[in-house]
Amino acid sequence: MADETSRRVAVILLGPPGAGKGTQAKLLAARYGVPHISTGDMFRDNAARGTELGVQAKAIMARGELVPDSLVCDMVAARLRQPDAEHGFVLDGFPRTPAQAGWLDAFLENEFIDNPSGSKGLPVVIQISVDYNQLLLRLTGRRSCPAGHIYNIHLQPPRVADVCDVDGLKLVIRNDDREEVIRERLAAYELQTRPLADYYWNKGRLVSVNGDLPVPAVTGQMVRAIEQQGAAAEVKNPAGSF
Ligand code: AP5
Repeated sequence: MADETSRRVAVILLGPPGAGKGTQAKLLAARYGVPHISTGDMFRDNAARGTELGVQAKAIMARGELVPDSLVCDMVAARLRQPDAEHGFVLDGFPRTPAQAGWLDAFLENEFIDNPSGSKGLPVVIQISVDYNQLLLRLTGRRSCPAGHIYNIHLQPPRVADVCDVDGLKLVIRNDDREEVIRERLAAYELQTRPLADYYWNKGRLVSVNGDLPVPAVTGQMVRAIEQQGAAAEVKNPAGSF
């Protein structure tokens, strides 16, 4: 895939819990050779290591609420300043509020974009739309490998029950995939994250894909959107921007 990895690609994936952001972000990141940056994974990693941030986030996540913007933005700033994000990234689960989106635009303009040229210089924003009942099925059936591979007992089962096909690790159920927490997460999405679609739509930067389709078909829609939006710029033009 030399062609794909010689490009700079910056993508933001939007969508409700269970829409397939993590599934697609991994595929796009591998395809374009850029890091997959998931704020949810970063919080879960902090919680597992017992950091101060992780302790704070763990209780909030267990209730299905959003972590305060200031904590999230500081964490994302530190991650985006890592050298591997210099040539692009796939953001999964961030931004999640209009305030986070405004912060991100300002951050990218200040720190990433050499020669801003309006919306052309900013990441492509892809909204994944999925039927509500399908979301419930996806979240209640999700099983995750500690190394990051994602399965679904109804829709994408592993070859052997509860065992990761790739590395043989035991699959686990995420703490926030309990039904009562799922409903809180979906409510938080409707209230706090859905307005983001308007934020990006009004800036002419939103592309919507049908997330009800099988995984490869969803990836195909995203790749077409990325190519068409010109989010991929040749590295041989280093003055180019996201
Ligand atoms: P986060 O980890 O970001 O969770 P989420 O947004 O709720 O999304 P999910 O990870 O549940 O779903 P997904 O869209 O990635 O779907 P997946 O690919 O796994 O956030 C968790 C918490 O952290 C938040 O509640 C909040 O507290 C906190 N947080 C994180 N970011 C924050 C921020 N920016 N601000 C404040 N707080 C923040 O797929 C789901 C299932 O469906 C899987 O089983 C998969 O196999 C299956 N599947 C996927 N695609 C398909 C398909 N096309 N067909 C069939 N099955 C499919």
